[in-house]
Amino acid sequence: MGLNYYTIKKNILEARKLVIRATNIAGSGHPGGSFSMAEILGCLFYKHLKYDSKNPAWVDRDRLVLSKGHASPGLFSNMALAGYFPESELDTLRKFGSQLQGHPDLKCPGVEFCGGSLGTGLSYSIGMALAGRIDDKNYHVYTIMGDGESDEGQVWEAAMTAAKYKVDNITAFLDRNFIQQDSYTEKIMPLDDYLEGTDLSEMWKDASRWKTGDKWRSFGWNVIEIDGHRIEQIDAAITKAKATKGAPTIIISRTIKGKGVEHMEDNPQWHGKAPDSDVVPIINQELESQFMIAPSIIAGDMSNLTNEVKRCISGRADYIHLDVMDGQFVPNKTFDHVKIKELRPLTVIPFDTHLMINEPIKHIHDYVDAGSDIITVHAEVCDESSFGEIHDILKKNQVSLGLAINPDTDLPYWSYKFLSSLDQLIVMSVVPGKSGQKYIEDTHEKMNRLKPILKDHHFSGFIEADGGVTLDNIGSVFMDGARAFVGGSAIIGQKDVRSTIRQFRNEIMRARRKTLLDKANQLGGSKLVMKWIELHVVGETQDQIKKIAQEAGYI
Ligand code: DX5
Ligand code: ZN
Repeated sequence: MGLNYYTIKKNILEARKLVIRATNIAGSGHPGGSFSMAEILGCLFYKHLKYDSKNPAWVDRDRLVLSKGHASPGLFSNMALAGYFPESELDTLRKFGSQLQGHPDLKCPGVEFCGGSLGTGLSYSIGMALAGRIDDKNYHVYTIMGDGESDEGQVWEAAMTAAKYKVDNITAFLDRNFIQQDSYTEKIMPLDDYLEGTDLSEMWKDASRWKTGDKWRSFGWNVIEIDGHRIEQIDAAITKAKATKGAPTIIISRTIKGKGVEHMEDNPQWHGKAPDSDVVPIINQELESQFMIAPSIIAGDMSNLTNEVKRCISGRADYIHLDVMDGQFVPNKTFDHVKIKELRPLTVIPFDTHLMINEPIKHIHDYVDAGSDIITVHAEVCDESSFGEIHDILKKNQVSLGLAINPDTDLPYWSYKFLSSLDQLIVMSVVPGKSGQKYIEDTHEKMNRLKPILKDHHFSGFIEADGGVTLDNIGSVFMDGARAFVGGSAIIGQKDVRSTIRQFRNEIMRARRKTLLDKANQLGGSKLVMKWIELHVVGETQDQIKKIAQEAGYI
């Protein structure tokens, strides 16, 4: 079974957009804390949580307790996407008479806990978990807590209680974003270590300053510490938590308040504030501009692929691109599913398997079983019937579905009917077969030609650029619409994968900021451009964006 990566990712994106819409219409609410826990909720709603939105009171359902109840827009957005109520109901957020209030309320079917009084959700969850044990039910209780609310003594009373009664049908998440209503948590009541200045990155650099895990461990909990925005880490942590018997588990998730919108990130102001209407379209475009870097390991030492995977891990790759070549569809041979299976235990980072092989339908099961999370097959060796079969097999196994087209291939007509459920489209920018080739410039024009077709057929997946992507062209490839970027020679071929990936990210960020400035300028001229720039108050961002705006002549 795969990670269900793109399905989770797409829903997280939609949920974030709904949070923006709802809080904007309400004129108030909490986007910051809704965004820091967005990936956690995405993994719960689209992978792990057992529920029936048409029968919210189903007795065997898992229970989801949002202890940090002020982040209700995040919960409600996911509930809308999951079918508890129509999305349009989010427009009534915080309005008199609505079932969607500033804090979750039991009058909304599907809500398990009246949040609002911070620090009480864990105690309530323990009660639910113990009740499940007495009633011989095997539901699981998931509780999401904030780090600000950890100031409450009741949290620690609950922590002792859960350990004493060995409540192992509960998994708590600590949304560790380092910011509470008034300031940084490490200034108000440090869970880790006192923060002298205002630079949160100080807390990330030095692991010896992290004390939160030790606290929970000393209270008798099983502690797992993760990056709370990485889907694969959340997924693996939940799986581990559920397998742990005899002790409750807490997943300490290091997150970023406001994650996904640069001016909200790490900015205490966005704890509880709604975005203005004129900025909403820019925010939505920014949310749609998330991107992933996928190093291709065939550009490294083919005799030591284990080491190449390790370099991707330490380089913080978003996923690992695996180029399978069979010596028939392309002249070269690389490796097959046996190798992928061997590499799989090395990491939970998603495996993005690119099958450059004949008759992929004959081998698809092998690549699912080997542990791929995304599988892309070539249009040149599929037809409507075989691709339909591949589509069904992958969807059933929670593996994301990709289609690739060679530089000389147009999207075949038979593929149009699959576009709305396609997760990834690779528009090859080299003739497939080997790494280290030059980017074919016509691809820019091809991407533009594809845009209306993809739009007309409701493609909501991600475009992956593969072949000849370098630091010099990655910005323009991003502007063409690509959101996943394969890097063979330009990443794996380099000595320092980590700093190269960082440079790739910086280049994309620059292009992204430029497209957002274009949008602001197009919607509201220099006034809106300036307003948007001035929203960026953390770190050096404002100056950097201002420079791009000046170069573009917008201010
Ligand atoms: C080409 C492969 C690519 C390639 C990327 O057949 O699909 O993934 O290895 O390598 P570079 O980035 O060097 O072109
Ligand atoms: Zn590839």
